Amino acid sequence: MSNMITATEFWAEQAGRLHWAQPWTRVLDWDGAPFARWFAGGTLNVAYNCIDRHVLDGHGDQVAIHWEGEPGDTRDLTYSDLLADVSRAANTLAGLGLRSGDRVAIYMPMIPEAIVSMLACARLGLVHSVVFAGFSASALRQRVDDAEARLVITSDGQWRRGNAAPLKAAVDEALAEGDSTVEHVLVVRRTGIDTAMTSGRDLWWHETVANASPEHEAQAFDAEHPLFILYTSGTTGKPKGILHTSGGYLTQAAYTHEVVFDHRPGRDVYWCTADIGWVTGHSYIVYGPLANRVTQVVYEGTPNFPDEHRHFEIIEKYGVTIYYTAPTLVRTFMKWGREIPAAHDLTSLRLLGSVGEPINPEAWRWYREVIGGDRTPIVDTWWQTETGAIMISPLPGTANAKPGAAMTPVPGIHAKIVDEDGNDLGDRDADGLLVLTEPWPSMARGIWGDPQRFRETYWDRFASAGWYFAGDGARLDADGDLWIMGRVDDVMNVSGHRISTAEVESALVGHSGVAEAAVVGAADATTGQGIVAFVILTAETADTGADLVHELKAEVSREISPIARPRDIHVVPELPKTRSGKIMRRLLRDVAEGRELGDISTLVDPDVFAAIARR
Ligand code: PRX
Repeated sequence: MSNMITATEFWAEQAGRLHWAQPWTRVLDWDGAPFARWFAGGTLNVAYNCIDRHVLDGHGDQVAIHWEGEPGDTRDLTYSDLLADVSRAANTLAGLGLRSGDRVAIYMPMIPEAIVSMLACARLGLVHSVVFAGFSASALRQRVDDAEARLVITSDGQWRRGNAAPLKAAVDEALAEGDSTVEHVLVVRRTGIDTAMTSGRDLWWHETVANASPEHEAQAFDAEHPLFILYTSGTTGKPKGILHTSGGYLTQAAYTHEVVFDHRPGRDVYWCTADIGWVTGHSYIVYGPLANRVTQVVYEGTPNFPDEHRHFEIIEKYGVTIYYTAPTLVRTFMKWGREIPAAHDLTSLRLLGSVGEPINPEAWRWYREVIGGDRTPIVDTWWQTETGAIMISPLPGTANAKPGAAMTPVPGIHAKIVDEDGNDLGDRDADGLLVLTEPWPSMARGIWGDPQRFRETYWDRFASAGWYFAGDGARLDADGDLWIMGRVDDVMNVSGHRISTAEVESALVGHSGVAEAAVVGAADATTGQGIVAFVILTAETADTGADLVHELKAEVSREISPIARPRDIHVVPELPKTRSGKIMRRLLRDVAEGRELGDISTLVDPDVFAAIARR
């Protein structure tokens, strides 16, 4: 035991990866659990850690970002370029009167200015809230209002499969009704499409940021200074603004990026295919990698534009060594066929990663054999918006990873499998709920504006033990390795995107033709889960049939995002309910997945349900 280091010593050592303006006085303050304070008393600047210190260390000429635009235009940004651009943006934002702690919404496609905007916020202590550019105007408005953002940064439009789709117009639509807290909208010109500008409110990036001074001195902030809010779906219709802070978050993002991906600065070319609208983009495109002086590829567009070769061409062109993507894309590649990757030299790859949903063993094997040339380790990384950084993953070079298993918590992290009552099911052959038993540096510090919901959602369930309830089911096999089985709550996972059943149901009942709706996630060979809705129509619309189904799908896309569009909508006369009025989703899932029905004895009206099942 004598050579065992304590948890706090371990994390203190990891925090030593960063540049601290002032050292911390206490590694972990858990007195206010479940609201942790890590590295209390320490101060640092997150952007300085991601950029300035690399330039000062003589790496200013190293490429930070190989950016590849969808239409084929490219830009390489060195660390010196990034420093100048982030400084310009920081000077502009400060000039708009934004002050430390203010919130900024970022609603942008995958262009360098999106990353520059995030880092400019971090540099000034502004709290960014990145809203995925695929989200609708109303989803944007909801998030802007919840965070009371003073500024929105966006672009005129975005490239999507060769078309310039408007984006700034959605910001206008979002802000059109009623008062909002937004004072300015800063707009990057990306596509050149006609864009209305509201005088006094809207500013062009190329007329402001581009002309600002490239000198800006970063000021240090408290380790617990808020860094960002990121909205994610919960079990209710209202998205949760997950709050992350500075020192602990950056420590664990940097630590895991290095150990899980075996990243070596100056040698690797790393590519994480996520969008900055999701936590993976925050932790494994922006903060972890840049803190570790990465050279990375950032690609703007879809994997099949102009054709299905695009990702493999990019890997070949830049000599990508580490490739991190989602199982849904691997399954899409499988559908396109192995001759597509086979037409390219992918031998630069030495490590593959997976994130966002369970990877089925077949996809895992295909990924390793066809993309990884049967050589590369695969790291299947389990984590969440709330955990901030990777928690469970094999480490390359250790134990043989099993296809489909997330294996073991990374050093410093502690997990258990428990039953519904919180009984520890041991460390072998157990099937239950995944809990995290010790606090970790990048853990969420709360839900923006709703501390009570934070306690209730994650901590109340196993309050006496003080464990974090992740919302996932998991299995420990005979060797003690972990397999993540998926959500145990009403959260769906579609192509690695988290969507709540309640959100989709509320969009559906928002349509005047729908009286009631129930939504379930059903197994889908490509997307992991597909959204299947059961709707009861109002008397007036009951005979409009197929047209209405089409319109309802469009309505959900408009209200939330095309990613939330139901795969199937079944018009039904009744929903299966228990006598206490609860919708029996388990039965709907049976129908959606074409299974024999489970026990229907508790239903109010079993006959009605049998009729639904026969449809
Ligand atoms: O169900 C788990 C699944 O994605 C959820 C977290 O979603 P989100 O906060 O959007 O973050 C996604 C990217 C980190 C988890 O509760 N999930 C994530 N990674 C895996 C996974 N399920 C199985 N295996 C994974 N590697």
